[in-house]
Formats: sequence, structure tokens, C-alpha cells
Amino acid sequence: MSQSFYLRTYGCQMNARDSEAVTAAMVAAGFAVAPDENGADILLFNTCSVRDQAERKALGKIGILKSLKRERPERIFGVMGCMAQNLGEKLVKDLPHVDFVLGTDQMHRLPEVVNKLLEKRDKLVFVERGDNGDFRGLLQGHRAHREPGGESCSAFVALMRGCNRHCSYCIVPHVRGIERSRPAQEIIDECERLADAGVKELMLLGQNIAAYGLDGSRQVTGPGVSPFAELLRMIDAVKGIERIRFTSPHPLFFNDSLIEAATSLPKVCENIHLPVQSGSDRILDMMNRGYSRKGYMDIVGKLRSRSPGITFSTDVIVGFPTETAGDFEDTRSLLNEVAFDNSFIFKYSPRTGTSAAKMTDDVPKKIKEERNAILLSDLKQRVAMHNQRLEGSVLEVIAEGPSKRDSSRWCGRSRTNKVMVFQNSPDMSVGDFVDVLVKRSTFATLFGVVSMPGRDDMAPQT
Ligand code: SAH
Ligand code: SF4
Ligand code: F3S
Repeated sequence: MSQSFYLRTYGCQMNARDSEAVTAAMVAAGFAVAPDENGADILLFNTCSVRDQAERKALGKIGILKSLKRERPERIFGVMGCMAQNLGEKLVKDLPHVDFVLGTDQMHRLPEVVNKLLEKRDKLVFVERGDNGDFRGLLQGHRAHREPGGESCSAFVALMRGCNRHCSYCIVPHVRGIERSRPAQEIIDECERLADAGVKELMLLGQNIAAYGLDGSRQVTGPGVSPFAELLRMIDAVKGIERIRFTSPHPLFFNDSLIEAATSLPKVCENIHLPVQSGSDRILDMMNRGYSRKGYMDIVGKLRSRSPGITFSTDVIVGFPTETAGDFEDTRSLLNEVAFDNSFIFKYSPRTGTSAAKMTDDVPKKIKEERNAILLSDLKQRVAMHNQRLEGSVLEVIAEGPSKRDSSRWCGRSRTNKVMVFQNSPDMSVGDFVDVLVKRSTFATLFGVVSMPGRDDMAPQT
């Protein structure tokens, strides 16, 4: 009987995509996917290092599962991804039940390493930087659950790996290495394969995605040059793909050429994730972000003037070293001015090896928490209001399948990335485009009914 594995994934969407790819590689090598941890012969963790809490979460879980090793010592434990890259040898030293560690550029070796361990027990740690072929090979891997007939209407496509920006707080360039872009044709082939398998919506991924194709050049692109914009045009032409999203563009690379592509290509959705991090010029400078508040607002203004219905989401850090009440007010006012539809708010967490880690982490935890809570409360109020304004309107969604809370209802997303829950109808299938009339809303969700023109009972309630 084949050995089974269970893979738990932490961190960002790039990790989720890597997990899909290594899962497919394991299945192709003859391993089976276990339904849960208890039933698995091989336990794998694809980890994140971005904040201390992310590491503690994975370490806590790996620690708890030690009992499974005691129960069956032949079980294999493997830690992969960003925390594996960051901690390396230390992981097998501190956690003796861990058998192997695979860094971010070594994950393509997973089946080989597991087979080695099945033959002969050992401790294996591979955290060397790889060459481009390795990661490209891994990412070309099919998705085990997305072959034709598999029910999924959206897919992640990783365009590149690594980041060259070195924002002062960020560990990502240390753990993921320098920027490496996949050739455009390889990406287009993958998008075409996905379209053939029924995928309608793509989420394009890269830590510094707007710098795609610049070959890691540190130079900021001029107003006219954007290989990423060119790639968007090529993906927009792929038959069968109906919606394109991408994350995360660094504002410095969001030049006029990309603004033009993002607002004129029909399949690119009207929802842009544009991480701002802070609204204070002094803090932005200390973060080494390379733009000012005004520079950021100019991009937002240009996008909005070309696409009035566009919505934005962002990432923000509160409590960066030396952040004063005034700096925080600048962040708060910027968030309210842009009127983000979503923001991911993080409390600053010093990461060893980054330049900010040399500064004193001087904003007390309590103040970080207060600032976090204020931004969250502003966000909730604002989005509840935005959502209320949508009541009575009709939004097109892609039916994704039954809602998590209530399987008699389905959910889907609008182009503006609003989560909609609506009643199921017997002839609806995953991937169908449906017009949904919004009846009521909360901060997180819009509730509606499938809109059928001419039906009185579907008219908005007043
Ligand atoms: N490449 C993406 C972000 C990757 S990390 C970009 O540039 O936008 C995701 C988010 O985590 C960042 O945008 C930032 O807001 C947050 N983050 C990164 N390092 C952090 C740290 N040391 N403490 C708190 N938040 C951090
Ligand atoms: Fe980190 Fe900055 Fe690179 Fe994003 S752009 S991954 S925040 S260094
Ligand atoms: Fe975390 Fe690595 Fe992503 S550090 S945020 S999983 S790139």
C-alpha cells in the first residue's frame, strides 16, 4: 500500500500555491493524500516566517503533533518553506521528532527526500539556494485536484519567486531569495491548461508582482515600461479565462503603463490590492518603501479616474519603531481617504536579520493593539456602509459552491471581490456566472437572490 501524507500550509497565497505544486509532485511519485494528520504516514508543514506569531503558530502545531511520532515512530515529519529556510538546522536540533527540513528553493526535492528517508532513517536539512529551473519545474506541476472535471473555478498562478525590495521590516527577501520571473510563454501555457480544465478566474502571484520580468533590476521602471502589463495583456487574451486578479504590486512599480493595463483590460477585476504599510512619510522612509504618501495617493487617483467603480485593499503595519500618535493619525487618515474595502492590519514584529530589527521595538504592545483596534473598527464601519449602499443593486458573481455556514446557499465573489451568499438553484453549477440582487448586507458579506429580469418577486425590498 502506498504511503500517505498530510500537508498543513501556513502563510500567504504563494505558500498555498507551492503546497498545491508539491502535493501534485507527491501524488505523481505514488504517495496518497491522507484525510487527516492521524491517518498520515508522512506529516508535512509548509511554513511562514513573516511575523513572530506565524512562526510560533507552526512551531506550536509541530510540537503538539509530537505525540503522533511517539505513537508510531516510523512516521516522517518534514518542515518546508519560509520558516524552514529561516531556521534550518535549528529545527532538527530543537525538535528531535522532525526528520527533514526543506528550504524554499529545495521543495521540488520533496518526493526524493521522503523516499530516501523511507529507505534509511536520517536527519536531512536542505536550505541551499537553487537555480531557476528548479522552481520553474515545480510550478509547472499540475494541480492534483484541478485536472479536467475537478470542481474549481479559480486558480493561483505564481509568476515569479523572491523579492529584491528589502523593506526594512521584511524577512521575505531573506527567506525567498532574489526575484526570478518565469518566462511569459510558460505562464501563458499554464493559463491555457487551467482554462481547458474549467478555470475561469486567475489569481496571479508574486511578492513584488508589478516588477515581473524586470529580472530583478532594482531600477524603477519608467512610465512606459512594464513587462507585467504586457503579460496581463497576454493573459487577458487567453480564451476561457474570464477574470484576472493579482497580488501584491509594490506601488513603486505601479507605473502609468500598468495603470492603463489594469483599468482597460476587460478581464482584470476592479479590485486592486495595493499595500501602503503607513500613511506617514517619515515612517515610509524608515521602512525603505521608496514612495511618499502623495506618490501613493497619485496612483490611487489615476486608477480611480480611469475606473470609477474600482475598490482597493491594502496591508498596513502599526507600531513600527518610533511611530508616534501623529504618524499613526497619518495612517488612519490615509486609510479613510482611500476608503479601502479591506485592509490587512499587522502589528510590527521585529525579524532577525532585517535592518529594522536593529532599531528598538519601542512602541509598547498595548499601543500596537490599540492602534490595530482603531483601524479595524474604522474599516468595519466604512465597509458596512459601502455594503449597505450596494443593497438593491445587481452584481455578477462566479458561483463557487455551497457556503461554509449553510450548504443550502451558495457563495461567490463579485469582480470587486465582494463575498456574496445567495440561494441555490437546482440548475446552478460551479463556475456559472450569475447575477445576484443584493437584499441585505453585513460588514463581511452581501446576501442576495439570483436576479431574473422581469420577475417581480426579485425586485429590491424598500
Ligand atoms: N510582498 C508583499 C507583502 C508580503 S508580506 C508586499 O510588498 O506587499 C505581507 C504583509 O505582511 C506585508 O505587506 C506587511 O504589511 C506585513 N509584514 C511584513 N513584515 C512584517 C513585520 N516584520 N511585522 C509586521 N508585519 C509585517
Ligand atoms: Fe517584503 Fe517589501 Fe518585498 Fe513585499 S516588497 S515582500 S514587504 S520586502
Ligand atoms: Fe510568509 Fe513566506 Fe509568504 S514568509 S508571507 S509564507 S512568502
